[in-house]
Amino acid sequence: KKAIELLENTTEGTLGPMHTPDAAYLARIMDSTEEAVVQYANLLQDRGLAIVEKKSVVTYRLTEEGEEYRKSGLPERNLIDSFDTEIPMGELQKHPQSRLGIGWLRKKGWVDIKDGIVTKKGEAAEGVDESALKNPVPSQPGIQDLLKRKLAEEIESVSYIISITPKGENLVESGLDLRQEVMTLTSEQIRTGEWKNLRLRKYSTKTPKRVYAGKNHPYQQLIDDMRQILFEMGFTEMNGGIVESSFWNFDVLFQPQDHPAREMQDTFFLDLEEELPAGYEKIRDMHISGGDTTSTGWGGEWKEKKAMQCVLRTHTTSLSIQYLKDHPEPPVKAFCIGRVYRREAIDATHTPEFEQLEGIVMDKDVNLRHLMGFLKEFYQKMGFENVRFRPGYFPYTEPSIEPEVWVDGLGWVELGGSGIFREEVTAPWGIKYPVLAWGLGASRVAMLKMGLKDLRQLYRSDVDWVRNEPIARSRRY
Ligand code: PHE
Repeated sequence: KKAIELLENTTEGTLGPMHTPDAAYLARIMDSTEEAVVQYANLLQDRGLAIVEKKSVVTYRLTEEGEEYRKSGLPERNLIDSFDTEIPMGELQKHPQSRLGIGWLRKKGWVDIKDGIVTKKGEAAEGVDESALKNPVPSQPGIQDLLKRKLAEEIESVSYIISITPKGENLVESGLDLRQEVMTLTSEQIRTGEWKNLRLRKYSTKTPKRVYAGKNHPYQQLIDDMRQILFEMGFTEMNGGIVESSFWNFDVLFQPQDHPAREMQDTFFLDLEEELPAGYEKIRDMHISGGDTTSTGWGGEWKEKKAMQCVLRTHTTSLSIQYLKDHPEPPVKAFCIGRVYRREAIDATHTPEFEQLEGIVMDKDVNLRHLMGFLKEFYQKMGFENVRFRPGYFPYTEPSIEPEVWVDGLGWVELGGSGIFREEVTAPWGIKYPVLAWGLGASRVAMLKMGLKDLRQLYRSDVDWVRNEPIARSRRY
């Protein structure tokens, strides 16, 4: 309603010939504020009925010092008027305004100074600065001098000019419909037919509007890409829970019971125990003496209680042995992308929860070359062209290697661990063939692919980020 009133006020004869009033003027006649008027005018503008123009006007105001000189004259003017034709410098310096004034007398060339005598040079005509001082308006050329001397300052004021478009004028002429527009109809209004009398809000199908499609979380998309690649490479997905007994998380991997990774500060232990599986004694014997193999084991004690204690899995390697136990016949190619937990201090590259990509390949004659081949192929499919390996160490593999990929700007980045399972790991389960195994940092891979500098950003719940990420990433990285 206010906008319509504004429209009428702007077109009606009340304004006389002045057809483009500013918001301040309209605010006065409408008994409103300037801000409110601009708001109404913007509403009109959105519908093509009016045009709002912002105009900034520069005016000048004398500073306190300038104001003083306007009343009493510039210091140099007062000095020059204080003597007839000449005066000894010593005398002139007694004038209260001599400190500022003498410099300006010189600068303006009003005097000659010689042998301590100050002599007038012709008549000191009124300068443009003096006229500007009397009347500080933008058209005065001397205003710049005043600004430089800090006798005046600029003030910028903004005004809004509102003009009505031809469409707006037509609307006013044809009479305005003051009924409120309805945005949503109630079932009541539809049933009774009342809707026919309502003024419905027009809906533009032309205004471009960004539409945010529903999509998977960007990290989930990358995980799905990795899964897809592994499916294409002939792998089967294996799954398991995040709570494991220490037996499956550590012991079957020939990780000694006093291994530092099994300490409280590295692992989340749960107040839960799980029964050991049938045949667990083989694992016990392997730890103590090497069982039936040529291994000597770790020696010392092996405690059932310790193996039964549950943990939040510290790696997905805990799944691999369980999978091999259930699938003893070659070939086996299996993978899992799953969350793992470690007691880490949180920083840009460490979070206590993250995802690992686990993989195993068991077959008659597989060897280290195949392992490097699989890893290289996977990383290349993920868009990392250069892959290299360096020696590593894990208690359950021999040899052990760590894949690294080249990332422009970062250099070689380590992205996981891998190796061939030791006899100590495979023998208790009667696994007869070599097993290639790896655990890759899936979250690190995702972070690199998305160009994130901080691992934590993968897990942030930031709707805008998700919205602005692509609906789908191309697998052809
Ligand atoms: N489990 C190791 C880790 O979490 C990775 C790994 C998996 C190493 C399989 C060798 C074989 O770092």
